[in-house]
Amino acid sequence: MRFYDESSAARAKRACAKLSEERFQKSTLETADSRPGLAVVGVGMMGREHLGVAHLLGRTVLRGIFDQSAQSLEAADELVATLGGEAPHHYSNLEDVFADPTVDVVIVSTPNYTHWDVVRVALKSEKALLVEKPMATRLEDALAMVKAVSNRKALFRLGMQYRFKAQYVDVFREVKALASLGAVKTISMSEYRPPFLKKVEQWNKFSRYSGGTLVEKCCHYFDLINQMAEAEPISVYASGGQAVNFLDFEYEGSPSDIDDHAFVVINYSNDIRASFTLNMFSEELYEEMVVVGEKGRAVASERSTFKRNEPSTGALQVEVSGHSHYHSQDVSYPDIIEQSGHSGATFFAQESFLNTLESRNAGQSADSATVMQGLWAMIVASAAQASIQRKAVVDIEQFLFEHGCSSLALAEFTPTTE
Ligand SMILES: NC(=O)c1ccc[n+]([C@@H]2O[C@H](COP(=O)([O-])OP(=O)(O)OC[C@H]3O[C@@H](n4cnc5c(N)ncnc54)[C@H](O)[C@@H]3O)[C@@H](O)[C@H]2O)c1
Repeated sequence: MRFYDESSAARAKRACAKLSEERFQKSTLETADSRPGLAVVGVGMMGREHLGVAHLLGRTVLRGIFDQSAQSLEAADELVATLGGEAPHHYSNLEDVFADPTVDVVIVSTPNYTHWDVVRVALKSEKALLVEKPMATRLEDALAMVKAVSNRKALFRLGMQYRFKAQYVDVFREVKALASLGAVKTISMSEYRPPFLKKVEQWNKFSRYSGGTLVEKCCHYFDLINQMAEAEPISVYASGGQAVNFLDFEYEGSPSDIDDHAFVVINYSNDIRASFTLNMFSEELYEEMVVVGEKGRAVASERSTFKRNEPSTGALQVEVSGHSHYHSQDVSYPDIIEQSGHSGATFFAQESFLNTLESRNAGQSADSATVMQGLWAMIVASAAQASIQRKAVVDIEQFLFEHGCSSLALAEFTPTTE
């Protein structure tokens, strides 16, 4: 199964049917039942979004949370109380999370620079893991993670949730499942948005903690472009820098060093050409994927805002003669899902992870992001970041060689968790 095998409307209908009154009442915060036990490591903004989604889904039982920040723990406790649950258990250290026999599933939503350290501890256990994107800040750590995960039986998936936004599910379905455009030739993505938000200890203002903007933020878009191209990237050229945001920002004496705009061009082995545009000093949020094939053009877009309390709006346009969406058609999930975070993408990322867990136990496949998909998104993102620094085209084979790897070695490398 692929994430676009059903339309966003069918996906929402199926998910809502599961959110039956009875199931919804049986909240994730109860303790005595047979659903998988859940622990969340890192309960900042994203960890709390996962807690809310877990409650909405009602398919796991919250066993506890771990974080190093008293404020984040307090905010998570408040959220759980608002949802009607008992104060969650606070683990006193990371090892205790993975030693807890009541925990089956762990969501890791700590800052990027901690992912590899947390995963190294996690891999000593057989818990199913959903690790937030990007998998690491450095490509060498991402490669090490892929190798380590390959020897493991338990499920390991990544939180590349943008692929579950309604407009992307639907454009993939048009292009891949329905072949509405014929053979794809070009892909262009863009994101316009306001600056990075405040984070605990401001880790996202520093490349050493985030991996750089193209790794931290844009691995989502490189995942989408890679999935659409369905081929290996062979070269990446990027130009970008820090023009407006956080120019005078310092935290504990260190100046911020993150890019706030970039243009990236990617060539794929099947001659598909792709581009990505980032601008982070815009007033409102707008993202777009334009795919052009032999028969026509598709545009998937989303408008959103941090300023007003307005829902985001997704749209799909398929400019192919006679197509029902020739003129733009709104696409979105029901409000209860849209409002659970990232336009419903987190809901479906977690739902898909749990479906993968269930179907894997039943010997079937499901569609959450694999470690290899996360790695290829990381490879493009890291090459783009290197291209900005080198002011030169980065040949992917050469880039992998510089990191002690090759595309041939990766092709032969099929982690057991796939
Ligand atoms: N997939 C998405 O759309 C999406 C969106 C936002 C964030 N994220 C990712 O989620 C992760 C967390 O981002 P956030 O926005 O919640 O950041 P945040 O700063 O709001 O929260 C991070 C939390 O992790 C805690 N933490 C730090 N080191 C820890 C450790 N070693 N063990 C346990 N807890 C630790 C911090 O105290 C903080 O509470 C990042 O990897 C980020 O890239 C993903």
